Amino acid sequence: MSELVLCETRGAVAVLTLNRPEKLNALNYALVDRLKELLDTIESAADIRAVILTGAGDRAFSAGADITEFSETVRQGPDAAVRAFVRRGQSMTARIESFPKPVIVAVNGIAFGGGCEITEAAHLAVASEKASFAKPEINIGIPPTFGGTQRLPRLAGRKRALELLLTGDRFSAERAYEIGLVNRIVAHDDLLPSALELAGRILRHSSLAASRILTAVTRGLNAPIAEGLEIESEQFARMVPTHDMREALDAWLARRQPHYEGR
Ligand code: COA
Repeated sequence: MSELVLCETRGAVAVLTLNRPEKLNALNYALVDRLKELLDTIESAADIRAVILTGAGDRAFSAGADITEFSETVRQGPDAAVRAFVRRGQSMTARIESFPKPVIVAVNGIAFGGGCEITEAAHLAVASEKASFAKPEINIGIPPTFGGTQRLPRLAGRKRALELLLTGDRFSAERAYEIGLVNRIVAHDDLLPSALELAGRILRHSSLAASRILTAVTRGLNAPIAEGLEIESEQFARMVPTHDMREALDAWLARRQPHYEGR
């Protein structure tokens, strides 16, 4: 069996490629499990400081959960379906959302269902002009189950999200940009270079500071503001004793470039 998720490193960036192009990179259980395993490895790899997620082939980022496999699981009843399908998918998107290193999705084509939910969960997203999106779960009689009923309304606003969720209509990269689902749209051939360039602009800075920002935003966004401000204070306090914070301040005062640890 070929690798379900390819992993290559470009300097300090791991490029993960969903690799079932003959099935439009549909997310079967094995692929989801492999992606989570790779994220575990990347989390503890000190030399990897950012992740780009993309899809193999010229058509899709991912056409979503593997409907063939899912339709077998639902025959076993709601408990089995929630365990095998919903929990697995939700833990994948939650892992991406709360990953301590920046995760950038490079949307190279179709991002339907779970493919769209991965884009919603990622910290940043760059879309090819050929990318297309949809929340098509209603066509198979289910609500989205990898966080898609929760993150898109928070990201795009309730009415914009509900229109997409209730119609299942496809939408373009331009619409994805308008609703805040992707940060930018680029020519198809520029997709990976653009995602790498974006990663590079983050990697100029302290990775520890980036990680504290990711935690503050991700945890704070889902908390009442008073709690969010506490989270912000905690994340700041955790930076205070670090070499990176002292070095950043000293470098600013001396008008020189900082030299961070782990670079
Ligand atoms: N799960 C399992 N297999 C999928 C899949 C999915 N989500 N999406 C595509 N595939 C498979 C197809 O079965 C087909 O395999 P086959 O050649 O062995 O039959 C292959 O990928 C190519 O897809 P196909 O449907 O032939 O391409 P298309 O250009 O006609 O249509 C889509 C593309 C995306 C419109 C269509 O594949 C689709 O509707 N997919 C499901 C999207 C969806 O509902 N996702 C949410 C799931 S919760």
